[in-house]
Amino acid sequence: MKNRNSKICTSLFVLCLIMHFAALAQKKLTVLANKPVAPVAPTMWGVFFEDINFGADGGLYAELVKNRSFEFLNPMMGWKELKQNGKGKTLIINRGNEKPANPRFARITVDSAQYGLSNEGFRGMGIQKGKQYNFSILAKKGDGNINVMIELVNATGKKIGSTSLSNFSGEWTKQTASFTTTDTAVKGRLNVLFEGNGFIDVDMISLFPQETWKNRPNGLRADLVQMLADLKPGFIRFPGGCIVEGRELQNRYQWKTTVGPIEDRMSIMNRWNVEFRAPRNAPDYFQSFGIGFYEYFQLAEDIGAEPLPILNCGMACQYNTGEVAQMDQLDPYVQDALDLIEFANGAVTTKWGKVRADMGHPAPFNLKYLGIGNEQWDEQYIERYKEFEKNLQQKHPEIVLVGSAGPSPNGPRFDYAWKEFKGSKAGLIDEHYYQSPEWFFKNATRYDNYDRKGPKVFAGEYAAHGKDDTVTESKNTWFSALAEAAFMTGLERNADVVKMASYAPLFAHVEAWQWRPDLIWFDNLRTVGTPNYYVQKLFANNKGTHVIQVLQDGKVLAGKDSIYASAVLDKTSGEVIIKLVNAATAPTSYEISLAGVKLNKNRATIEVLTSPDAYAYNTLDQQKNIYPVQKTMGIKGNNINVSLPPMSLNVIKVSIR
Ligand code: AHR
Repeated sequence: MKNRNSKICTSLFVLCLIMHFAALAQKKLTVLANKPVAPVAPTMWGVFFEDINFGADGGLYAELVKNRSFEFLNPMMGWKELKQNGKGKTLIINRGNEKPANPRFARITVDSAQYGLSNEGFRGMGIQKGKQYNFSILAKKGDGNINVMIELVNATGKKIGSTSLSNFSGEWTKQTASFTTTDTAVKGRLNVLFEGNGFIDVDMISLFPQETWKNRPNGLRADLVQMLADLKPGFIRFPGGCIVEGRELQNRYQWKTTVGPIEDRMSIMNRWNVEFRAPRNAPDYFQSFGIGFYEYFQLAEDIGAEPLPILNCGMACQYNTGEVAQMDQLDPYVQDALDLIEFANGAVTTKWGKVRADMGHPAPFNLKYLGIGNEQWDEQYIERYKEFEKNLQQKHPEIVLVGSAGPSPNGPRFDYAWKEFKGSKAGLIDEHYYQSPEWFFKNATRYDNYDRKGPKVFAGEYAAHGKDDTVTESKNTWFSALAEAAFMTGLERNADVVKMASYAPLFAHVEAWQWRPDLIWFDNLRTVGTPNYYVQKLFANNKGTHVIQVLQDGKVLAGKDSIYASAVLDKTSGEVIIKLVNAATAPTSYEISLAGVKLNKNRATIEVLTSPDAYAYNTLDQQKNIYPVQKTMGIKGNNINVSLPPMSLNVIKVSIR
């Protein structure tokens, strides 16, 4: 018995010693909660939208018909003839200058037997059971009398919805018909069947779900917009990206051709159509501009984001032709910028303000930022930028101009651009970094010593590019997201310099992508947030109003023991929000004291994003492999004890008095 008691005493003693040393070893962090060091710009975390990876046509734009106006290089691409007894025919007619933005239409000739055109959609059409679909067609009756049967079929050819149209006019007229589907189809098709004798001219053959974002006609896919709205982005950059530049100037993005009635918006080949070799090429990738600048501004307004259009500055993509507009021919490009400001903000009595009003938005869109060029470099860029700056500053000093630092995060082009911009009127400089995860970890301190006097930073395109795998969504690993999270603590800590940041690219169709990783993957019916998406969401949903310091032994915590930290105060909600990234493969814990404030008991939460597998990722079939989990936290006095799982992003939120 004596022996047993002495053993218990010894064990207790050892336990006490362990606890004592553990307490001594407990790492401590101090958050200077009552000393805001800089405001966080409301625009801090935003999104970058480009029509790449079928992001617009075949993605965000809810139109289900591909090549609806026969304007692809091959006018019948996406269409298949349905013939009975070999009868009936389609003739593509080009009306040239009569309708330069939409020159082609199809003349359908029918001879007793039914004849049809079948559209394959964008890698099939995603159709939901029991929902309303709206068909429309521009048609002009020719000789004879023709009726049109409209059928939606699934991959096996089974009919899952139908309607019909008749009594066509002898003038070009839009006819519409709606129907409700009887089944779901992942890869549906639309059959447009012509019956009778004679001919009929058709154009703009279109099918939309009734349920678009806000149920708007010509609308956007509601599930994809919801993913954006959930981020609560501070801004939306559009329309790109290299798409702004075009492979050559002729193919550049011109906003004026993207507004007004959709049948008058001129389709062009999407530059990502031919950028890469098979299987990443996309011969059927065109821009219908069904989403044009009006829709982008409207989207920005809907999701509470500042619109940030990027305009061509008289330069084609420097990775492609690199051709530039002659300096004495730059006026139309500058005029496009001036007119865009009028389109967005001008009174309805102005030329472009009226276009906006006629499209349904008399109130201004309140444009504040304008990007001059996308990813440009060298003297030819600065020369052109200055021309824009001179004109825009004179007429619109209220607009913040965004200049480009080129495609890399450092090097001679980058240094040259920054040197030139220091003396300019540019408010923000757009930096791009597509780098390894290691680069992102290492660059968590990138902005700690940046010049505070020059233009501010717009981290306009970034993503950690890790190892490749054959599964489509697999490039979006947890490790890449963790590296971005570590880096983002550095952006947040330096919110006095970094005013905007956006991951890129935003969307990718799993069957039609050209570039990965991407923030959000989708197919025709589903969408999935990557681990990188949830990192963005945790930062953007917790951006606070002011930066406060997190210190360990009086120093910034950016990589010591593989821990990265930042914190903000939210003066509106009365909260302190601390972000801690544990990039180590072992757990660790901290005692965090919040200096200068009193904590409200029972009002602390922690949201944790983690996976034990650095190379884990989310897929459309397994959407929550990496997904934030929220818990409440206990508070002792004015301190918080937190244990950080290995490889985790932790967002701690405490209410203060
Ligand atoms: O995000 C994909 C591309 O990367 C963008 O179009 C371009 O700006 C950058 O090179």
